[in-house]
Amino acid sequence: MDVKFSEFGAAKDGVLVVGAYDGGRLSKQAQAADKKHKGALSQAMKRNRFKGGRGQLLDIVGLKDARVALVGLGKADGFDALAAEQVGGTVAARYLTSGESRVTFALDVTPDVAVAAALAAVLRSYRFDKYRTRLKDEQKPSLKRIDVQSDDPAAAKKLWKTAEAVAEGVRFTRDLVTEPANVIFPQSFADRCEELKEHGIEVEVLGEKELKALGAGAILGVGQGSTKETKMVVLQWKGGKDGDAPVALVGKGVTFDTGGISLKPGDGMWDMKWDMGGAGTIAGAMKALALRKAKANVVAVLGLVENMPDGDAQRPGDIVTSRSGQTIEVWNTDAEGRLVLADALWYCQERFKPRCMVDLATLTGAIMIALGLDHAGLFSNDDTLSSQLTAAGKGVGEELWRLPLVESLDRAIDSACADMKNITGNRNGGSIVGAMFLQRFVNKVKWAHLDIAGVVWSGKARHIHAEGATGYGVRLLDRFVKDTAEG
Ligand code: BES
Ligand code: MN
Ligand code: ZN
Repeated sequence: MDVKFSEFGAAKDGVLVVGAYDGGRLSKQAQAADKKHKGALSQAMKRNRFKGGRGQLLDIVGLKDARVALVGLGKADGFDALAAEQVGGTVAARYLTSGESRVTFALDVTPDVAVAAALAAVLRSYRFDKYRTRLKDEQKPSLKRIDVQSDDPAAAKKLWKTAEAVAEGVRFTRDLVTEPANVIFPQSFADRCEELKEHGIEVEVLGEKELKALGAGAILGVGQGSTKETKMVVLQWKGGKDGDAPVALVGKGVTFDTGGISLKPGDGMWDMKWDMGGAGTIAGAMKALALRKAKANVVAVLGLVENMPDGDAQRPGDIVTSRSGQTIEVWNTDAEGRLVLADALWYCQERFKPRCMVDLATLTGAIMIALGLDHAGLFSNDDTLSSQLTAAGKGVGEELWRLPLVESLDRAIDSACADMKNITGNRNGGSIVGAMFLQRFVNKVKWAHLDIAGVVWSGKARHIHAEGATGYGVRLLDRFVKDTAEG
């Protein structure tokens, strides 16, 4: 998508997007368009029960040399960047395959808010069409260009540089998440990470030999039943001061989760291609940070592994030794994410001594039972870190909800035969149990765990994404780094 910035004025061609506030009060640009088209906008409002509610859209055709989209902006004083995203996304969804190739936003807002509308339009226009061989012409995207008018195009253009980096990061994540598990497995995921080198990110890939030498028996156990080699990818972005402790991001990258010998039911198992969502989100966030040249040191450790049943797969009851030295009795091979993170978290903190460590994982189905699909779960041993992450999420419309770390559920994973087991054996507090397990591997570093099982993939389109991979978390992490590590 081409995004261009200009002053307010007539649209060249395509669709002119103008706004009306609650009650149908036309904004300045909308009044101008109404006048130019002899009251067509007022007419259309009246005859469509259009009241200017946020997200409403009136598509007005049949005008001389023009097509106008009148969009509802809602209450004027609440019309901020997030509200603009809703509008931008709605417009993109409406015109993406309409046959129109160009949309011009002429919203009477400040450049930052105008840029938010453009960002949402770009995010909402994402498609994953590489495996569609029979698309009819009318099913293909026609929208190629977005024009954003404001009274300070230079400022808007500058803001767009940052937004565009974030959009690229989100795209990278969505591609990784959407690819099926026969295409994205640990090695091929690592290969795609290698592409980040060209943006200045240092990339290291550890294979099974290196992981064995490290004593990372927990992640290796998960991959034992797969023919695909287990990998650990380390990414480093050094945009901050030399020697400044980095922000660390740790991702669960299970490229397919069958459950292993504790096999999942077949129905819905296809969803487990996106069980690498934590790692995918972090890879996208790193790309965004590098593209916008974030002034911060950020490292990422991604545990990449496929969880398969096989003659050599690990069995329920097996005991593995993790990098930390702690032993784990694997009661359920489907509780594999925590095993992957156990080694990734420990390795991350011992190697990088980070200022804080945030892990992202599609860890538990239970988080959807607890919170539904609009929030990711947040667990943390630090109140400040917790509120910083919550605020970052709120700022970009990727909401978090904090849940408690519960001592009695930590005791519930004590094992009779090893230092711990990987499940309790009952369903109580399933997501919290996962967090308590992880906490045993953070070595008192300031840490937060984001359980993103409910938000990586969406069964329905929403304002900034189609059905499919959402890209949730990329913008949250970008904002978190910006607000807490860039001075
Ligand atoms: N990857 C799953 C969690 C998941 C489920 C993510 C549905 C996205 C959608 C995870 O590895 C898993 O299987 N968790 C188990 C844990 C249980 C065995 C303690 C679960 O949630 O059932
Ligand atoms: Mn599992
Ligand atoms: Zn899993």
